[in-house]
Amino acid sequence: MSRTELGNKTKTAEVPSQNGKGTVARKADHLRINIEDDVTAKGISNGFDDYRLVHRALPEIDLEAVDTSLEVLGRQLSAPIFISCMTGGTDEARRINRTLAAVAQEAGFAMGLGSARVVLEHPELVSTFAVRDVAPDVLLFANLGAVQLNYGYGPDECRRLLELLDADALVLHLNALQEALQPGGDTRFAGLLDRIADLCAKLEWPVVVKEVGWGIAPDLVRALFDAGVAAVDVAGAGGTSWSEVERHRLASPLARRVAAAFADWGISTAECLREARRVAPHELIFASGGIRDGIDAAKAIALGAALVGVAGPFLRAAAQSREAALDLAGEFAQVLRIAMFATGSRTLADLRLGGHCRRRGEALCGSRPARLTYRTAGAGTFLDITDDVARVVEASGVRNGIAHVYSAHTTAAIRINENERLLLRDFRRFLENIAPAGDGLYEHDNHAMRPDVPPDEPVNGHSHCRHLLLASSETLPVVDGALALGRWQRIFLIELCSQRTREVAVQVIPG
Ligand SMILES: Cc1cc2nc3c(=O)[nH]c(=O)nc-3n(C[C@H](O)[C@H](O)[C@H](O)COP(=O)(O)O)c2cc1C
Repeated sequence: MSRTELGNKTKTAEVPSQNGKGTVARKADHLRINIEDDVTAKGISNGFDDYRLVHRALPEIDLEAVDTSLEVLGRQLSAPIFISCMTGGTDEARRINRTLAAVAQEAGFAMGLGSARVVLEHPELVSTFAVRDVAPDVLLFANLGAVQLNYGYGPDECRRLLELLDADALVLHLNALQEALQPGGDTRFAGLLDRIADLCAKLEWPVVVKEVGWGIAPDLVRALFDAGVAAVDVAGAGGTSWSEVERHRLASPLARRVAAAFADWGISTAECLREARRVAPHELIFASGGIRDGIDAAKAIALGAALVGVAGPFLRAAAQSREAALDLAGEFAQVLRIAMFATGSRTLADLRLGGHCRRRGEALCGSRPARLTYRTAGAGTFLDITDDVARVVEASGVRNGIAHVYSAHTTAAIRINENERLLLRDFRRFLENIAPAGDGLYEHDNHAMRPDVPPDEPVNGHSHCRHLLLASSETLPVVDGALALGRWQRIFLIELCSQRTREVAVQVIPG
């Protein structure tokens, strides 16, 4: 996340030096602070604690058959994990990048390099990012602040970067809040979405967009895919907080208090991910931000992430030693593999599609349906039960899924239609015409010919015939905790027999 400005851009007060020394100093600060200080978000978690993976006592697979491999953006990975974009520009950054790249190569992970704007300004610093020689097979991401597209950089510079770093894709980071907290930060974010779309159209490499730890809301996830990005990394809150990092760098107590106000800012990673998956069910979504072990990673995959990113913990491990970073990679991979085994997931697709992740408190085998009881007014009653069903949906706590509304009767139907008085009269007449009531018209009404007829058996052959044309149930989408009904749609319990007590079951199923 470099911030010096050149050309038509203003130089900031905080970066007075030439030859990128200000940028280099800031990058060195960022490394030191991330390694030595507590920079975790405060008062907000990554959100994965709200979920648990469902244990499967009989997984019906062999541990050694569990396969964590996948292909992403044309590269083969051994596990769905990437070491997220961090650094470059200093000698220490060079050492860390090369250590992490070698670990990624050995573990079969993907890896992101830190913001490489400094390379465009000072090509002599390219060696601090160069890792291809130690990571020939790694899915490698180059990185640039998206805001730089508003400060004079475009497809040509991005192309140069990708070629210089021999990267497979470009990751643009969105860091509006961080820039706002840095003295003299690059805060001209207006019109960026169009510039991202333009870049996607012109660049020969895939473009990925990420946040830096405050999350991306679903409407923007959708807009980014519509703009042509290949993947979105939601990079949510709950892990490294860049307001906390910047707080440690700021000199004045006032500036530090301003930064501290954002310690719990952002959308948690789990929430971003769930919502992103809802609005982009078929697109490539990555999850990062506060992923701290293989269980978080497994939950993220189960909630729809294709890849899971980790930054801060790998930086601290690499600062210690290559062995420590390799150890951490091995721990992530092993825990993920065993979590897959213990949920009965042989492949990542099994983990993602098998319904293995439940919100805490959600029943393991589903909850029993709600039962609504009604006393109807006799044949031809169209009872509008929409509001009751909506209340059941609300009480279920299910945000997205389906609601199944079912009548346990053969002469009382459930149908969706318009609640308009004259139309209901039309329906009654229509049903009467199609299956008129009348003695002798229906064999079912010849009680003498039927064994075991109860004494209170009604004459209702016509009711059964009318029911045959209707149905016992309707299934409705639940979106954002509410029934997604069309403007005129209402749910009716339709009485086809006589005045009766009727029971309707409503089952709300999370999607
Ligand atoms: C030292 C450090 C430097 C970072 N620099 C960048 C960067 O240059 N570009 C970027 O997109 N993200 C950068 N990030 C953000 C991470 O990629 C990631 O989004 C964020 O740290 C949240 O993940 P975490 O909680 O696992 O650390 C940096 C993170 C760290 C710890």
